[in-house]
Amino acid sequence: MSGNGFSHQPIKVEKIKTKYRTINTKIPVPESIPMLDKMYKIEAQAMHGQLPMIWDRADNFQIYDRWGNVWLDFTSTIFVANAGHGNKRILKALKGLLNKPLLHTYTFASSERIDYIEYLIKNTSRQFEKAFLLSAGTEATEAALKLMRLNGQKQGKSRGGIICFNGAYHGRSMGAQMMTGSIPAKEWIGYQDPNIHHLNFPYPWEIENPKDFFESEIEKLLTDKNLDPNKDLCGFMLETFQGWGAVFYPKKFVKALEEFAKKYDMLITFDEMQAGFGRTGALFGYEHYEVEPDILCCGKGASSGLPLAIVLGSKEIMDLPNIGSMSSTHSANPLVCVAGHQNLKAMLEDGLIENSKNLGNIFHQKLNDIKNRYPKHLKYIFGTGLLAALIFMDENGEPLSGLCDKISEKAFQKGLLVVHTGRESIKLAPPLSITEEAMLEGIDVIEQCIKESI
Ligand SMILES: Cc1ncc(COP(=O)(O)O)c(C=O)c1O
Repeated sequence: MSGNGFSHQPIKVEKIKTKYRTINTKIPVPESIPMLDKMYKIEAQAMHGQLPMIWDRADNFQIYDRWGNVWLDFTSTIFVANAGHGNKRILKALKGLLNKPLLHTYTFASSERIDYIEYLIKNTSRQFEKAFLLSAGTEATEAALKLMRLNGQKQGKSRGGIICFNGAYHGRSMGAQMMTGSIPAKEWIGYQDPNIHHLNFPYPWEIENPKDFFESEIEKLLTDKNLDPNKDLCGFMLETFQGWGAVFYPKKFVKALEEFAKKYDMLITFDEMQAGFGRTGALFGYEHYEVEPDILCCGKGASSGLPLAIVLGSKEIMDLPNIGSMSSTHSANPLVCVAGHQNLKAMLEDGLIENSKNLGNIFHQKLNDIKNRYPKHLKYIFGTGLLAALIFMDENGEPLSGLCDKISEKAFQKGLLVVHTGRESIKLAPPLSITEEAMLEGIDVIEQCIKESI
């Protein structure tokens, strides 16, 4: 590993030429290094740390560089290209707009925006009556924080208590980081909002009875902070699964949480940034819990490539802020709206959700077979649909983060991109448009990488 994350020393690797992958240069590509070095000099380092490659184009589930190498993409560019890179529907709609041309309208209306929001509302759960479009996921979680608090104020609650979870991630802006469950990530703020609370996450390997665990965590919070849920608590913010390891809550835990929220008039928000738009084999990941959230925050896979984030909720909740008080410059941009519209059509009309569910079953079966062959290193496979996290731990349960770095780098050298988390997990999330043949090839590569790395 170099200061920028992975080694930037080009090495001779095995040449690869299959139907889906080509590696015909040293890796990293020698010509890419001066370009990367230039970028590191002129761009803030907080943007860096990724595998050293320079993307030139991407098509469906493959990524190309300009030197003839082709990678099979098991990242969807971090859960974004769910409908496939350069999805044809999306490209066609974007080209139509470019030909008009219409690139921006600020908050003036466009037919693209009206048509998209109408389609979105029509195809999501009944309680979602209005939407609010933004550019980044962190804006959507911030907006949900505000909506939950405004709703609490309307009910006469004296404190804007929001309950979040340790280990969760909700974005990098200030409110989102306050809700995030990692203390080092928010130390820069200098204080913690006293009305943002965190419960311990119910890791399935740590707890026995999810309902009891929820009740004891809540009881502890109420006692420690002397809170009256009728007056002091407005809502819950849940990341549908913990991002680093695709760890879902036990269903009974979420059911108990829902019961508590209803009892005390609290809202439930799901942050579906990674889980949404077909990734888990359902349109939204929360569907697996059989609960109905009050507010939904989405982004990433909502457009398969353009900066789109969405907040959904009832008329009553969504109209709590005054006219004009929550717009932002680029929200509901027409390009983004047509991309979002066609992306959702691709999910619903081109069978991408079914593909995620059906291929997901094979995906998980194959990954579990691999787990059974490497029990001393590969401890769990989490996730569902075309989402998987491979959790590497030794026999004493110690995290094997270094091994994950090695496997990710080896996969890169063999023409497969996986999500490197920097932790004891490797995440896999191919575009939902991937074929079974390509998916199986990628899984074989993973097994080779594990074998060569342990
Ligand atoms: C669960 C979750 N919430 C929020 C965010 C923030 O989204 P964005 O990076 O678009 O601001 C992310 C991004 O990784 C995420 O995974």
